[in-house]
Amino acid sequence: AEADDQLIIDAGQKQFGATVCGSCGMIYSADSLEDNFQHTQFHQSFLDSIKFVGWKKERVVAEFWDGKIILVLPDDPKYAVKKAEDVRRLADNELGFQQVSLSCPSQAKTYLYVNSDRMVVGCLIAEHIRQGFRVLEQPEQTKDMTREDFMEHHRAWCCSTTPEKAICGVSRIWVFSLARRKGIATRMLDTVRNSFMYGGHLTKEEIAFSDPTPDGKLFATKYCEK
Ligand code: ACO
Ligand code: ZN
Repeated sequence: AEADDQLIIDAGQKQFGATVCGSCGMIYSADSLEDNFQHTQFHQSFLDSIKFVGWKKERVVAEFWDGKIILVLPDDPKYAVKKAEDVRRLADNELGFQQVSLSCPSQAKTYLYVNSDRMVVGCLIAEHIRQGFRVLEQPEQTKDMTREDFMEHHRAWCCSTTPEKAICGVSRIWVFSLARRKGIATRMLDTVRNSFMYGGHLTKEEIAFSDPTPDGKLFATKYCEK
């Protein structure tokens, strides 16, 4: 925790102080023993999960100024598949899906964004699908809703009810909290479109997002309108 940024929410009382760990990105209250303990437990295992030591054979599908994208397929060596699973587990924890399995794990393609510090800061899992539901713009009328209304309408908003032909389904997309808004998700998705199908390029319309989160929806609507 050498590079902690202090983000003190100045409410006059010290126990409201929230700290963002500059290495693992966890937000916690440094004044709480409980929080400190949870942070210590999380910190090292998180950094171990995203650490990328480099592999003898890496399927590099794109290179950038700040990193590269590696594609992992289900039949790859154990160490590669394990890294993809470790990162997926982190993403799932954050997304709150506990044990949701992939619709067809033997077909899933995992794209890992490895940065120049050798950390996996992005993960995208893509699967072949036949149809999807378009992500729709969110109406801005959430203010007067009760929580129940919100939850009920939440699903309905994210997707149109008419299935449309799609080829590639994005079942997970995750970027490390400290690396967001730098175009990593955009570059991962551009790379999927270029590499998912051998010899073909997918249009934005041929990509569908499964059950997007609020962040996922904001990203997807922005991506698809560009
Ligand atoms: N709020 C508003 N707009 C956003 C957000 C956001 N949280 N995230 C992305 N955008 C829009 C912006 O317009 C952004 O461009 P800008 O930064 O120039 O304004 C544009 O999308 C491109 O964003 P990227 O930088 O490419 O996206 P990023 O690398 O930050 O990753 C992601 C976006 C994956 C949604 C990230 O916020 C994340 O991991 N969130 C937590 C996990 C999650 O919710 N994932 C989506 C689950 S849905 C699913 O998996 C199918
Ligand atoms: Zn930490």
